[in-house]
Amino acid sequence: VNEENNNDNANETADADHEFEEMVLQLGHTSPTSDDAQYHQGALALAEYVEDETDGAVTIEIFPNSELGGEREMLESLQLGNLDMTFFSSGPLGNFADMANVFDFPFLFRDEDHAHAVLDGEIGDMVNEQAQESDIKILAWGENGFRHITNSERPVVTPEDLEGLDIRTMENEIHLSAFSAFGANPTPMAFPELFTALQTGVMDGQENPLSAIVPNSFYDVQSHITLSNHVYSPAPFIINEQIFNGFSPELQEVIQEGAYHARDFNRQFIQDWNEDYLETAIENGMEVVENDEFDYDAYFEATQEVYDEYQDEYGELFEQIQEV
Ligand code: PAF
Repeated sequence: VNEENNNDNANETADADHEFEEMVLQLGHTSPTSDDAQYHQGALALAEYVEDETDGAVTIEIFPNSELGGEREMLESLQLGNLDMTFFSSGPLGNFADMANVFDFPFLFRDEDHAHAVLDGEIGDMVNEQAQESDIKILAWGENGFRHITNSERPVVTPEDLEGLDIRTMENEIHLSAFSAFGANPTPMAFPELFTALQTGVMDGQENPLSAIVPNSFYDVQSHITLSNHVYSPAPFIINEQIFNGFSPELQEVIQEGAYHARDFNRQFIQDWNEDYLETAIENGMEVVENDEFDYDAYFEATQEVYDEYQDEYGELFEQIQEV
């Protein structure tokens, strides 16, 4: 937190009921700053809300484009108190709060509504409680959407089509296990290295939601996309817990409400943009395997070994999630 002079004149314009201390909070994310980039637009929604509600006393300075590193790196900085906030995918969160890994299992959520109900309910709260033990406070669960497979070699319909392909995954053990079970050669890699790895052929493919594939122009280095919906990708708004606890109750409320506002904005944004994203991918030459062409049954069967491997650790949570 970068606190500025807190002299008597600093809050002249502040709310009549409460004078907010002037401060600048730093928020990092990995997307570009374009109109179609969900992290940036969601971060702006949060920043505008907080600035309005504090009459300009509290501003959020946004560092886009992985300027502060990949998602795992930012999470480490945040945990140490060197970064205040981030808006990112939950993929690396399991390295800090293992319960969060449960959201990364393939074909777990029926649809977006199911995911929202789980994340906004008791299970999302439980993960948040565990993350707070590592000073990571989840303010709200936004989303990136469902993840899809892209590659530069061939249409991917069955698990056999993935055989021999080097696929980049997030730094997440469940994603790694899943892509091994699907028959690919998965390699974990930080996002800022990915474009070049695809461009130089170090990696044949990767998997991400359309909200990452299109704003990051992966269509320039990938010729095929399979609308596999294989994993839902939550995107939490996160703040360092000790920094948050140091705020006045009034500021805590503004930040918390701002995150709910930005979450709702973000979910609508993803819904509004998904069709455009796909059109842009096609216009830029990507060949699409539609969801109804994808051999869901074969992938689902391959997935069972991943669920079996983690049954002891997450079995109860799997059941609770299915009951929602
Ligand atoms: O692939 C990843 O690392 C993430 O999905 C991304 C693109 C950084 C979005 O959070």
